[in-house]
Amino acid sequence: MRTWLVTGGAGFIGSNLVVMARRQKWARIINLDKLTYAGHLESLAELQDDPDHIFVQGDIADSALVGKLLTEYQPDAVINLAAESHVDRSILGPQTFIKTNVVGTLALLAGTLQYWQGLTPPAQENFRFLQVSTDEVYGSLEPYAPAFTEIHPYQPNSPYAASKAAADHLVRAYQHTYGLPTLTTNCSNNYGPYQHPEKLVPLMILNARSRKPLPVYGDGKHVRDWLYVEDHCAALQSVLENGRPGETYNIGGNCERTNLEIVTVICRMMDNLFPLAVPHIRLVSHVVDRPGHDRRYAIDSSKIQQAMDWQPSTNFEQGIAQTVNWYLSHPEWITAVCSEQHQQWMDLNYDRRGAS
Ligand code: NAD
Ligand code: TYD
Repeated sequence: MRTWLVTGGAGFIGSNLVVMARRQKWARIINLDKLTYAGHLESLAELQDDPDHIFVQGDIADSALVGKLLTEYQPDAVINLAAESHVDRSILGPQTFIKTNVVGTLALLAGTLQYWQGLTPPAQENFRFLQVSTDEVYGSLEPYAPAFTEIHPYQPNSPYAASKAAADHLVRAYQHTYGLPTLTTNCSNNYGPYQHPEKLVPLMILNARSRKPLPVYGDGKHVRDWLYVEDHCAALQSVLENGRPGETYNIGGNCERTNLEIVTVICRMMDNLFPLAVPHIRLVSHVVDRPGHDRRYAIDSSKIQQAMDWQPSTNFEQGIAQTVNWYLSHPEWITAVCSEQHQQWMDLNYDRRGAS
């Protein structure tokens, strides 16, 4: 069996990937996660008795720890998901984004290179470093512009996107300069179980359930391309197995929706499940927009579809229904992740927005 060092494996996508990898026996997992406000061992509860899931709390910027884990467990791949990931937080405090997403990724690359250089030639040949990145590095699209391809110029607009872009450039440089066999994926917005309730989809589900206002930034006509998280994880496995070193692959759901469309679908589901005197959509409150808010993202994933026959298997209607049902049936997870710290973030982000 292969061994993967997964970073950020207690976060949203990381925990989905790690659980899927263990269920499908893709690999033994060494899971390195700092457990910031976004990382939760509760998301990995299913694996607590699995001897092939080894959880280590720590920072990707801790070179000594990274070196020790690589030497001890001899992984065939490093998959870097560890990041500060919320755009609104990056606007209020970019420093931690540079620390983890840029300096941390550099430390991880440096440690990985040292380890890789010590491997036998066949092991070097089989090794992969996979950087899990975002479509946000490409910037914003005009309404009818073609979707992002892998050769679209990097034009990051938020501190989050800029930090991910910087990391991606370092990954590219490590491949080009030192020959480290790297792969980079740029994925669109994910949704599904275990996403932190600060992000659009879970926030709207939980606020609607509590009959709280649904805060839509600006006019709500910003477009994102939505992908069910398990489809993203399947694509990552496919890229690891079949991707060509030095290449980048765009991953998307071919599912462009405005934010208001997303909120409307969630509200309709809530109307069916918990009818109120007035429809849930009446809870929508248009609030002050995000500064520099990208208007539209859309991914052209024809390269990965052609190269490795991957395509999303969950359509939006199925995926959002599964997601709403999951949040409604996991109150204990929500209690565990919605700490006092989470409430402080909600107050900080939304109190200053008010109604526009
Ligand atoms: P997340 O915020 O839910 O999880 C991030 C995880 O990284 C957390 O478990 C956190 O504890 C951990 N972490 C943070 N700093 C760390 C550090 N210094 N060392 C070790 N661990 C650290 O994020 P996510 O939504 O799961 O995203 C995972 C990755 O995928 C990120 O790199 C993100 O940029 C990328 N991505 C996310 C999306 C999306 O829609 N969520 C889309 C495309 C790409
Ligand atoms: P988010 O989930 O933060 O993902 P990203 O910014 O990485 O795309 O936001 C998705 C979209 O939803 C984005 O256009 C911002 C918008 N949004 C709101 O309208 N209200 C909210 O409370 C949040 C968190 C996001």
